Amino acid sequence: MMSTKIKKISAVPANKNVVMLAYDINDILKNGDFNPKETIFLKNEAKEEKSMITINRFTYQIIVQLLKKGKKESYFGLEKARRAGDSACGAFNRLKIKEIIIQNTGIIATESLAYVEGMLLGNYQFLKYKKDPKKETNTLQSILLSDAGVKTTELTELTHATEAVCIARDLVNEPVNNLNAIDLANAFKKLGKEAGFKVEIFNKARIKKEKMGGLLAVNMGSIDHPTFTIMEWKPKNAKNKKPYVLVGKGVVYDTGGLSLKPTPNSMDSMKCDMAGGAAVGAAMYAIAKNKLPLHVIALVPATDNRPGGNAYVPGDVIKMHSGLTVEMLNADAEGRMILADALSYAKKYKPELVMDFATLTGAAVAAIGTIGTVCMGTAEEKIKNSLKNSANEVYERLVELPIWDEYDDLIKSDIADMKNIGGPYGGAITAGKFLQRYIDYPWMHFDIAGPAYIKSNDSYRGRNGTGTGVRMLYHFFKSL
Ligand code: BES
Ligand code: ZN
Ligand code: ZN
Repeated sequence: MMSTKIKKISAVPANKNVVMLAYDINDILKNGDFNPKETIFLKNEAKEEKSMITINRFTYQIIVQLLKKGKKESYFGLEKARRAGDSACGAFNRLKIKEIIIQNTGIIATESLAYVEGMLLGNYQFLKYKKDPKKETNTLQSILLSDAGVKTTELTELTHATEAVCIARDLVNEPVNNLNAIDLANAFKKLGKEAGFKVEIFNKARIKKEKMGGLLAVNMGSIDHPTFTIMEWKPKNAKNKKPYVLVGKGVVYDTGGLSLKPTPNSMDSMKCDMAGGAAVGAAMYAIAKNKLPLHVIALVPATDNRPGGNAYVPGDVIKMHSGLTVEMLNADAEGRMILADALSYAKKYKPELVMDFATLTGAAVAAIGTIGTVCMGTAEEKIKNSLKNSANEVYERLVELPIWDEYDDLIKSDIADMKNIGGPYGGAITAGKFLQRYIDYPWMHFDIAGPAYIKSNDSYRGRNGTGTGVRMLYHFFKSL
């Protein structure tokens, strides 16, 4: 990951590349130094509702960015600003600009911060496998923000949070031939060193000792060993007595196992199946870097899911970490097998709340597509509302599905305590209901199969790994 630098400045130097941000062209004219021809040009362009107007002064550019003042809830305005920041970033790179000054001449500070956020996230690239990455590297390296309403500490916080998103993206974009379960655990170790949180890695022998039957079963068709990573941020000034626990699915590649993925090309993107693990690890990075006064733990069970060697077969009965048994009827429903062990392990912390993130079901994608996350759980209404609010603010919106008791019938097994698949309908819910059998604490499940990995560009989300979940989690913890 190469990250874009951001700094606050108090005075805008003359004759440099600058973006002037405003809702109203008159604020631009008041604050800028334009000759009569430029003034007429700016007024005309604004009349035609152009949102980005460039004045070319040859040795530098003045870019006027007009945002629409939102009438609806404020989070729409924030999202518009992020998207504008991303398009501007594209324009600067086409103009081969290295450093840009952003001068806020009248928009609210939260929106100018969101504009910078869109720019930082939009400037992300994953070029490490190119022979000549320099040829394709974005020119924009540094952003200088002039905005009296934005504090330096807020910029630092934003830097850490956007860095975290890019860390999650890097992990998701990394193919399995360079990121197996052990590599993923080591990547978390490295993040812990950088950000100052504790990281413990269970190897296969320890996982056996812990009787994590689900994780071991999924790993049986693989040559590479599984890992179980425990990350912990416990500052002295933590405000919570009981920890918040995060759980992330760490399937570094999902072939479907012996129930080999049946749909053409559906395996192509399956290096993304550890996006939940990446999201919680990266969230830990943001939380620790910004020293949030909260005790937070993250658990990532990790393995690849392959059909080799002694691969578990449909019909197998597996004894899970919790002691419950599962009749495995589809090797492609592996995520819930490894998450169940982590959720069961989480009981020992007597957590305040557990939140799991997983690219768990195609059914979640079928239900709402790639622009939002499906969630469900047993947390109290107040917590759910606060999560939905955070999700809106960062525009990683949530749709809650029910977890009615009747769905339990769909995962009943003749010979074991449950089976690992439901019926043809409600697949995202039956996956959640399976997980629910392993909890004894307030819990939320986030199925990020849709938004975690996208094939075409979506503004500052980019394409491929998006890092979804990181910003929502950070916002939620911050709001506590
Ligand atoms: N990793 C997949 C889910 C997935 C689908 C992630 C699309 C990202 C994009 C998961 O392990 C899976 O294969 N789920 C099955 C479950 C089924 C066999 C009960 C599915 O959704 O088809
Ligand atoms: Zn699968
Ligand atoms: Zn999977």
